[in-house]
Amino acid sequence: MRVLGISGTPRPGGNTEVLLDAALEPFRVAGWSVDRVVLSQSEIHPCTGCDACRDGSGCHLPSDGMEAVYRAMRTCDAILVATPVYWRNVTAQLKALFDRSYALRDEHPLRGKPGGAIAVGRGSGGGQSIALTIIHNFFLSAGAVCVPGELNGVSAVADRPGDIADQPNRLEQARILGRHVMAFAGKESL
Ligand SMILES: Cc1cc2nc3c(=O)[nH]c(=O)nc-3n(C[C@H](O)[C@H](O)[C@H](O)COP(=O)(O)O)c2cc1C
Repeated sequence: MRVLGISGTPRPGGNTEVLLDAALEPFRVAGWSVDRVVLSQSEIHPCTGCDACRDGSGCHLPSDGMEAVYRAMRTCDAILVATPVYWRNVTAQLKALFDRSYALRDEHPLRGKPGGAIAVGRGSGGGQSIALTIIHNFFLSAGAVCVPGELNGVSAVADRPGDIADQPNRLEQARILGRHVMAFAGKESL
C-alpha cells in the first residue's frame, strides 16, 4: 500500500513538514510505501490554462516536479495534504499543484481514495479552517473521500519554523488523522 504526503510550505523544515511527517508516521510503522512531496524542495510551475490537456494527452508544460506528483497520484491508496495558512488560504505552491492536477481530470486518479488535511497558521482563527476547506474541496473535486481526524482535519497554531515540535497534542492529532486515513484505505472504492 502507498500513501502520498504533500507539504505545501516553501519553507524547508517548516511546521507543515513536521505535521505531515507526524501524520505519515502510522503509515511508516504499518509498512506502507511513502511518496513524500515537499514543495520546499520541488518546483511546480503554475497552470497556464492552455487547455492542451483537454484531449487527455497530459500536461504540455515542460517537465517539472509535477511529474512525480502525477505518478504518485496514480499509484497511491491514500493522500495527506498539509499547508501553512497564507492570507487565509493555501500557499501559491500548493495551489499550483492542485491546478496542475487538472491535466488528469478525466483519469480520476484519486477517485475513492481517502484524504486527510492539515493546516497551520500563526494566529488562532488565522484561517486554518478556510485552508482545510480548500484542501477538502480539492479532495471532493477529485473524487477523493474526506476523512476526519479528531475533528474535521488538523488545525494548528505555530509561527517560527519548528515551533510545532513543542506541541505534542497537535502532533498526536496529526498521527490520529494518519491512522484514520489509513483505516479508510483498502475499503471498496467507488
Ligand atoms: C505570506 C504569508 C502569509 C501568511 N498569512 C497568514 C494568515 O493569513 N493567517 C495565519 O494565521 N498565518 C499566516 N502566516 C503565518 C504562517 O502560516 C505560519 O508562520 C506558519 O507556521 C508557516 O508554516 P511553515 O513553518 O510550515 O512554513 C503567513 C505567513 C506568510 C509568509
